[in-house]
Amino acid sequence: MSLEFQHVAIIGAGAMGRGIAQIAAQAGSQVWLLDTQAGAAQQAREALGVQWHKLQAKGKCSAEQVQQWRAALHVAGSVSDLATAELIVEAVVERLDVKQALFAQLEEVASPQAVLVSNTSSLSIAAIAANLRQPGRVAGYHFFNPVPLMRVVEVVASVRTDAEVVERLVRYAQAMGHQAVVAQDTPGFIVNHAGRGYGTEALRLLGEGVCDVATADRILRDQAGFRLGPFELFDLTGLDVSHPVMESIYQQYYAEPRYRPSVITAQRLAAGLVGRKKGQGFYRYVDNQPQPVAEAAAPSVPDLPPVWVSPKAARRAELLQWLKDQQLAIETGAVASSKALIVVAPLGFDVTTLAAVEGLDASRTVGIDLLLPDAATKRRVVATNPATRQDMRQAAHALFARDGKPVSMIRDSAGFVTQRVLAAVVNIASDICQQGICSPADLDLAVSLGLGYPSGPLAWGDALGPNNVLEILFNMQTVYGDPRYRPSPWLRRRAALGLSLLHTEA
Ligand code: NAI
Repeated sequence: MSLEFQHVAIIGAGAMGRGIAQIAAQAGSQVWLLDTQAGAAQQAREALGVQWHKLQAKGKCSAEQVQQWRAALHVAGSVSDLATAELIVEAVVERLDVKQALFAQLEEVASPQAVLVSNTSSLSIAAIAANLRQPGRVAGYHFFNPVPLMRVVEVVASVRTDAEVVERLVRYAQAMGHQAVVAQDTPGFIVNHAGRGYGTEALRLLGEGVCDVATADRILRDQAGFRLGPFELFDLTGLDVSHPVMESIYQQYYAEPRYRPSVITAQRLAAGLVGRKKGQGFYRYVDNQPQPVAEAAAPSVPDLPPVWVSPKAARRAELLQWLKDQQLAIETGAVASSKALIVVAPLGFDVTTLAAVEGLDASRTVGIDLLLPDAATKRRVVATNPATRQDMRQAAHALFARDGKPVSMIRDSAGFVTQRVLAAVVNIASDICQQGICSPADLDLAVSLGLGYPSGPLAWGDALGPNNVLEILFNMQTVYGDPRYRPSPWLRRRAALGLSLLHTEA
């Protein structure tokens, strides 16, 4: 099969341009690097040579390959050197005026058949191409950092991009060893749009006083399986990057409540608590290492009360079996005795609502998050309500930690931590599909490769049960009255019809 683009030019030899040049040369293309900063393209070329020698030393490629790739990498002196390029990739500063001026210049020198792409992560492709004579040959080619390791690229089609250009870019991405996903030209494309659920929902529960930062991170790592907690992720990315992205996507979607940013990050950013690179973010860093935050140990409670489990609890049979295995006293009466610890396990409701609706003694009532099977998680999460007595809180903590599994005690929260964060992630992913921004398969692929989530959000929603996710959202919306939690029609219809969230209409 012949290579889609033999001659490729890359403008901007920074972090992204270098990475793209690397994989393009490795695919077998002749690559020209251009940068306005004197010596930058040559420097990038040398750095790539060093990089390839390292790969060779690790046995990942041969000496012949390194020689061939190095020989395929050229430095261009000016835009006028790019007349023979079949594909021109722009990876310069993220400014619309700079990109528009550059594309106007390219249109004058590039061959009429050349495809012109931008690696922008936040600007509209249509706007970049607005004043060109041939906007049909312009698309987005959005790679992730570091390019050779993040093996996914969003091929972004504006309303004016030719279908054939998209197809060619998809084929070339594959030749470079990347998975291509096709996205419509919309704010955040796929990955940066789908990523809105995680951090913003974590900020909401932090703002609500549900738990502290370290507890939320532990829960989302140990219970939901995220590699990094949301606040660890904020610290890694830096609030100087993440807060403006949250604001920008929210504004570009005309104040869509699902993407609403938080005053917490606005104020922390203003205070200079940027993250890891400044030594202080949500965590403190010494020598770039986060300083550990101690976790409260389970108290010792000699006389554990008997436990009464609400008949409406999620996974009630599993919970009763676990209590039995721990040789705890279980009450089986229709109502709890005056001594009992009362346990509810809601989906999307808070403990307060269940205590009120089920007529339970709130001072002895706690909730446990059983969205996921207990055996599938490394941590239990137990919520109190504002009326829960201190002795009952202590008893609940001791009791659920009886087999040594860590327990996080949190304040009341509709959807605890995991339920509400996962529901937000699945709901936003669903709505991206409802808006036709990409196919469900591309959504899941882009998010698992681009964000490193343990699963694509739609497959995750299927595993949790679309009806469960829908119930969580409905109930959260009831408790909070916030349109942020309104379910996407994509999720609502598929759940109602018993279809997979990955299902596409005939
Ligand atoms: P960078 O700052 O590392 O490199 C940009 C390079 O472009 C610099 O070497 C600069 O001298 C050069 N440059 C600026 N104006 C130029 C012009 N008119 N002509 C030729 N060269 C010019 O930036 P980085 O991080 O590589 O980003 C490049 C683009 O990729 C931006 O649009 C950015 O938003 C996007 N992007 C960045 C990601 C990242 O994680 N860094 C991820 C995905 C996209």
